[in-house]
Amino acid sequence: MSAARTPADLEAMIERRVAGIPLEHVLGWAEFCGLRIAVDPGVFVPRRRTEFLVRRAAALAEPRAVVVDLCCGSGAVGAALVAAVDGMELHAVDIDPAAVRCARRNIGARGHVYEGDLYEPLPAALRGRVAVLIANAPYVPTDEVDLLPAEARVHEPRVALDGGADGLDVQRRVVAAAPGWLAPRGHLLVETSGRQAPMTVEAFARSGLIPRVVRSDELNATVVIGTGAALGARAERC
Ligand SMILES: C[S@@+](CC[C@H](N)C(=O)[O-])C[C@H]1O[C@@H](n2cnc3c(N)ncnc32)[C@H](O)[C@@H]1O
Repeated sequence: MSAARTPADLEAMIERRVAGIPLEHVLGWAEFCGLRIAVDPGVFVPRRRTEFLVRRAAALAEPRAVVVDLCCGSGAVGAALVAAVDGMELHAVDIDPAAVRCARRNIGARGHVYEGDLYEPLPAALRGRVAVLIANAPYVPTDEVDLLPAEARVHEPRVALDGGADGLDVQRRVVAAAPGWLAPRGHLLVETSGRQAPMTVEAFARSGLIPRVVRSDELNATVVIGTGAALGARAERC
């Protein structure tokens, strides 16, 4: 009601919601980490559970850290991190032009947003310099996309949901190439599900990162964090 300018406006919004359009697409924004994130029709709506990914990334990012958000969607994760970490240098990428337009609005001059496939559009100068690399890539197994609620299945793009046969196709590509972009003491954080976490962990271990699984029961969120071998050994001693 507070978002509607007139009673007619409210009526139109209610009709769109009753027709099954996600509330965030009706309003044009989602609340995420206390921010109002613009979400255009056809763009993935940031989920509350992903606030856990932000919290964990913010805890690892030092002031002025170089942070890359792959599969950034609306840019919600990057926008929340920029608000939380002093002087952070943000680079965000998505393959979907509608998501990139949205991310540019949400991130504005506080970061760089690129359109393309994972690492492909990033400046080569970032290689070996990324302190925190984050990805909430699509991770729904192809066979399960049709079982999602209509809000996702009908109103969010398939490229934002479908992660291939076991859901990990995009994640595996993110993880395999991560060591080439991470700084020596850098961290990779990938959102996954509790069920898929062992497979995500396996992908991290295969690329030489020391993985650990962190979980929030409150948000029903699972994140795998991988750290380069040298820092992993240090962290072990602390
Ligand atoms: C699950 S959504 C997450 C969006 C955002 N990170 C968030 O948490 O709200 C996955 C996003 O990955 C993008 N995506 C899928 N495949 C991609 C690829 N190969 N390269 C870049 N982005 C990709 C989709 O367009 C979608 O915006």
